[in-house]
Amino acid sequence: MKILFLGDVVAKCGREAVIRNIKSLKNEYGADFVIVNAENAAHGKGITASIYSRLTAAGADVITLGNHAFSKKEIINQIDLCENLVRPANLEPTHIGQAYVVRECFGKKIAVASIMCEAFMCPVSRNPVDAMRKLLEEIRADLIIVDLHGESTGEKMTFTRYFKNELTAVIGTHTHVQTADERLIDGCAFISDVGMCGAYDSILGRDADEVMSHYIDKKLTRYTPACGPALICGCLIETDDTTNRAVSITRIQKRPNNAG
Ligand code: FE2
Repeated sequence: MKILFLGDVVAKCGREAVIRNIKSLKNEYGADFVIVNAENAAHGKGITASIYSRLTAAGADVITLGNHAFSKKEIINQIDLCENLVRPANLEPTHIGQAYVVRECFGKKIAVASIMCEAFMCPVSRNPVDAMRKLLEEIRADLIIVDLHGESTGEKMTFTRYFKNELTAVIGTHTHVQTADERLIDGCAFISDVGMCGAYDSILGRDADEVMSHYIDKKLTRYTPACGPALICGCLIETDDTTNRAVSITRIQKRPNNAG
């Protein structure tokens, strides 16, 4: 089984690039299943049901979220209509939406779950390890892919080593910067952060001039999403169909033509 995971979709630029390219990426990497983190897809924060529908229509099988899951208030009333949308298990309020989904693909049950980290993040309802343990009591699947959303590379590595025998892959999201530490940990695929799909000429997908004037001159900023050609980041996880363990993880980074 080959699973394509695309990292945090940021605003219109990233969203349109993913929608435009998802099928060709799927073909290029021979992916059977596609997961997209889209917690920043709606103008840089949150998601709406219509964006969810466009991403799934384009080829995403499951959409994951993060600390901005509920930043667009309209999603709260629409979330039950988005059957393959996954919110972090330990993000308040915990009663809205679902913390994992199980989808069938070529006879395999694939669970996709989302967990928030603790370090440098907003308060969580339950620590990541306890939240994952609770999900594992419920999940019945052949493969379990976790979107681990947080700042700290060390926290993500520690979590993965703890759960390496129970999970197929732990894919870090949130920082928007792809790390070069993809590896297998005893049959569990891991990367600290898969990176973003958003404007290449930006600071983490935001307008660079605005962020700089905030940093240098202390001017107020709205963190306006940047425009322009998009960077597309992700990874491909391959699993063994007999053991259901990960056998490889490949980092994907597509820069725009003529990128610096
Ligand atoms: Fe985030």
